[in-house]
Amino acid sequence: MAFPDDDLQRIRREARFRTTRAIERKEGAWVWIDGRRLLNFSSNDYLGLSAHPRVIAAAAEAARRFGAGSPSARLLSGNLALHDELERALAALKGEEAALLFGSGYLANVGALDAVAGHGDLLLSDALNHASLVDGCRLSRARTCVYPHADLGALEALLRQAPRSDSAGGGRVWIVSDTLFSMDGDRAPLPELLTLAQRHGARLLLDDAHATGVFGERGGGLTDAPGVRGQADLVVSTLSKAFGVYGGFVAGKRAFIDFLRNRARTFIFSTALPPPTVAAALEAVRVAATEPERRARVLGLAAAACAGLRARGVEVLGEGSPILAVVVGDERRALDLSHRLFENGLFIPAIRPPTVPPGTSRLRISLSAAHEPEQVETLVQIVAATVANPDNGGEQV
Ligand SMILES: Cc1ncc(COP(=O)(O)O)c(C=O)c1O
Repeated sequence: MAFPDDDLQRIRREARFRTTRAIERKEGAWVWIDGRRLLNFSSNDYLGLSAHPRVIAAAAEAARRFGAGSPSARLLSGNLALHDELERALAALKGEEAALLFGSGYLANVGALDAVAGHGDLLLSDALNHASLVDGCRLSRARTCVYPHADLGALEALLRQAPRSDSAGGGRVWIVSDTLFSMDGDRAPLPELLTLAQRHGARLLLDDAHATGVFGERGGGLTDAPGVRGQADLVVSTLSKAFGVYGGFVAGKRAFIDFLRNRARTFIFSTALPPPTVAAALEAVRVAATEPERRARVLGLAAAACAGLRARGVEVLGEGSPILAVVVGDERRALDLSHRLFENGLFIPAIRPPTVPPGTSRLRISLSAAHEPEQVETLVQIVAATVANPDNGGEQV
């Protein structure tokens, strides 16, 4: 059998074959798939803003005024005043001097790392960093050392061994980390990362994709915490999760942002974000800042789900975040549980390698302000029944 069929067969044998499921209709936290109504617990729309009337109205108005798409890259004729306004709003939200929009969070990470690091530099990257950070490290061609997840001792040992940037042969050193890990819901030790960076003359790039909008008084994220705000060299984030829209951005000192505008290839050589997307994101940032009850709601619902599952004997990761993980280990078991949950009215896809390390396949449950407390109670009952006894399923929603 020849490529790609042989590879496909292996992927299937390993229970790692992926397909997309078509959502036919959406309403609040409900989705319809294959004509069936399911409660969606796999969305990153943490604040429920993708369906907010003000966000939708902003997109519609921008489409009417400027069109559905952008005519070119930002550096040519693709730049609207709206793009600049959104960048100012994001810089203010993050407590940084400036921000630069990218086509997505993925493109922001890849573009930023490729721009700031190269041959002779060293990137120290957390083992559970998102794939876009991993790919940015690869593309940069800097030497990359992966340190065990959140292991400050291991990170410091690598920093000690790194040639000083002011010595012969010493390039720049960057520490690269997610702030809230997307598949585990746990946090990087941000104050300690900052201290290590300062102590060893390293730079720090933080990816706040899953925390932006969800944490901080106005939704500034985990990088908005006292002692952290404005301290990292670059903060990357996305408009596609808590803001419920699409696009990515990098925030930091003006000189860094000017540098990225001139050197980040995923910014320079890609069409500007479409006007409806930019206008919707700007409105979503405003709503998120002025409606803190959305943050309280999603975190309260997640805390209730976490406590409810644990009370029923289910081991759960991610306490204190909108992301809960039930690690089951084997790919087949994760797939089987996900199918059974589907049969019982819950949409919770199985997360398998390479998204997570081998042997740690899991159910990733994400909460949203769009959920109702009764829906979370339903989640707890069905997941607990299904995990405890995968053969007899649970209750019907
Ligand atoms: C930590 C992290 N960074 C970056 C991204 C990429 O963001 P986007 O979906 O906007 O490309 C994701 C999303 O999947 C993520 O989880």
